[in-house]
Amino acid sequence: MENSIEKIKQEALKKLDEASSDIESIKALSVQYVGRKGFVTQFLRNISKLPKEQRPLAGKEANQVKQFLENAFSQAIARIEMEKNSLSDSIDVSLPGRPVRLGTLHPITQITRQICDIFTNLGFEIAEGPEVETDYYNFEALNVPKDHPARDMQDTFYISENIVLRTQTSPIQIRVMEKYPPPVRIIAPGKVYRCDSDLTHTPMFNQVEGLLVDKDVSFGDLKGILTTFVHEIFDEETSLRFRPSFFPFTEPSAEVDILCVMCRGKGCRVCGHTGWLEILGAGMVHPAVFENVKYDIKQYTGFAFGMGIERIAMLKFGVDDIRKYFENDLRFLRQF
Ligand code: DAH
Repeated sequence: MENSIEKIKQEALKKLDEASSDIESIKALSVQYVGRKGFVTQFLRNISKLPKEQRPLAGKEANQVKQFLENAFSQAIARIEMEKNSLSDSIDVSLPGRPVRLGTLHPITQITRQICDIFTNLGFEIAEGPEVETDYYNFEALNVPKDHPARDMQDTFYISENIVLRTQTSPIQIRVMEKYPPPVRIIAPGKVYRCDSDLTHTPMFNQVEGLLVDKDVSFGDLKGILTTFVHEIFDEETSLRFRPSFFPFTEPSAEVDILCVMCRGKGCRVCGHTGWLEILGAGMVHPAVFENVKYDIKQYTGFAFGMGIERIAMLKFGVDDIRKYFENDLRFLRQF
């Protein structure tokens, strides 16, 4: 009797071993051995037929075997299920990695950096100023009189009567000259704001301001610096022309055109069939501006210029709608 329960146990363990990782076979074995009509259960029922003195020990042993086998079956099932789960969650280290898409600099950032690099190589230093600016720095100190159209409510975002979102980077000139004595040689990039919106204008855009003040600075120096700049940012074949113009803070003033980068002067839609494209404003710093910053106008002269960065970027990349630069459509941005 004792032997037979031990035999049943050994037999069950052997079959469990043979069932290996097959959960269904193990469940079947569990029914076969410890189920209601299983071998161990039957053995327990038959204990009553044993001689009285053998019953307690046989019963104890059979119950131990029953519990042992129940544990063995359920543990085997649990182990197999766990292995299965961890296998489906695990990483196949032999698979090639998923490609990581690298970001790029925004085209406007790229052009801003190129412009700054060209001028820093020519000895200019980068200067910055606040985007929320006082009326004094944005207009007054730059010799823009109170009734000048640039101050119109239509053009300027007013924070209060005397505080505006700067409409140009030119106020940085004033801030620099107030702080440092001549000689000065700065390039000032930054965002500017105007109440304006169409195919070629956005309420926010970027400008770069340039200022050079020293003894004996002439219009010839301005021409030389701007010619070098245009040849570097476009190419050596891109010629320039200076047209007389007006800015309140320069005298004389000029607007600078470059030979159309699309048609090379033949005339096309981009240049309005003139062969030329306007890219910047410039001139010799007006004595009134120097007086505002207490520079000695007998000793010093200087030139200044300002340009829209988006305009340069549009011409360089052949983009005809400025708004594309601010829509953040990745299909557009990934091309740069
Ligand atoms: N601030 C001018 C504008 O926004 C551009 C400009 C023209 C800047 C001539 C200058 C300059 O420094 O000399 O239209």
